[in-house]
Amino acid sequence: MPISLNRRRILKGTGIATAFAATGRPMLALAVALEYGPAPGVAQLDSNENPYGPSPRALDALVSAGKRGAYYIGDSAPRLRAMIAERHDVTPDHVLLSAGSSHALTFLALAALQEGEIVAPDLFFEPTVRMALRQGGGKLVRTEMTGDLAIDLDAIEAAVTQSTSLVHVVNPNNPTGLLLDPVPLEAFCRRLAPRTTVLLDEAYNEITDDPEANSMVHLVREGLDVVVARTFSKIYGMAGLRVGYLIAPPERIEAISPFSLGGYTLGKVGVAAAVACYDDFAFLEYSKRKIVEARDMMTAALDANGLRALPTAANFLFVDLGALNAEAFRRAMAKRNVLIRGIYRDYANFSRVSMGFIHDVEKYVAALPAVLDELGA
Ligand SMILES: Cc1ncc(COP(=O)(O)O)c(C=O)c1O
Repeated sequence: MPISLNRRRILKGTGIATAFAATGRPMLALAVALEYGPAPGVAQLDSNENPYGPSPRALDALVSAGKRGAYYIGDSAPRLRAMIAERHDVTPDHVLLSAGSSHALTFLALAALQEGEIVAPDLFFEPTVRMALRQGGGKLVRTEMTGDLAIDLDAIEAAVTQSTSLVHVVNPNNPTGLLLDPVPLEAFCRRLAPRTTVLLDEAYNEITDDPEANSMVHLVREGLDVVVARTFSKIYGMAGLRVGYLIAPPERIEAISPFSLGGYTLGKVGVAAAVACYDDFAFLEYSKRKIVEARDMMTAALDANGLRALPTAANFLFVDLGALNAEAFRRAMAKRNVLIRGIYRDYANFSRVSMGFIHDVEKYVAALPAVLDELGA
């Protein structure tokens, strides 16, 4: 049977076409060609993943859970909610699980947009808000960053009106990596939460120097209208396993829940892995050490080449390329099998690069002088 042009194009792009032609057995060809991650020799530094994960405990659990994949999720979801609740001294009713935090963030944004507008800084992790705007309509109000690209809390506060239903703060922020001082941040949350819901997306919290001090989860405990988002995709190294969650007052979780599909968005394998590694502090420590090692290497290399990054608290750097264009830089790196991000909005001379394996970082470091040369820097 002839295969469609689109399918042929996809197969060609992945190298599956050769195997398909050679064997004539598509299922076998797929099994041969799938990599489940970056191809050998490619340094994937564009998605803020932690390649050292999943932890060995998670790997054991996901194999066992996969063998029971015929059944819907079952009791591992309530178990994970209970574990998260216990760690943060809240009740399970304060916890909403979802397939990666992206899903829960989208549900939150959808619910908020029914009630009013979302206020967020110009640079933030925004695909979930964009998705909600596309699905449900509504308005996103953006506020300017400070001169050094930090989130300007005063500008956000000034933009909040009676029409605001959600303030969206990512801390540390993506793509900048910058961390807010917890003291003014807490004061900001206390002032705003009586007026609107305040979201703190803390996807990278565990990577910061003092995760507890940098989290606003205690405000949820106090009953303020504050939502904290967390994920297993970053420090836990489980981006492909899709587990994330919100911690919020039960009334807020109830208001969001009608926009979610409950347990139907959850994968049994990911949740089992999350349960198994949630308390694997040795793995978290190890991952953090590797991230810091990678950051130090990259910072030194940037310095040696006359470049600087913003002071990051996360597992990525936002590099100031000076006069260079970040998209041209991305393409030149990609030619050398180093994948990084291109331009964010109109910040054309800033380039985001994630920490990966040390050998991936070495590839970036080795490519840097040649790329700068090629671009005439
Ligand atoms: C700040 C932030 N929040 C949320 C996410 C979504 O992650 P996930 O859906 O994998 O939990 C990301 C992903 O990069 C992110 O950077």
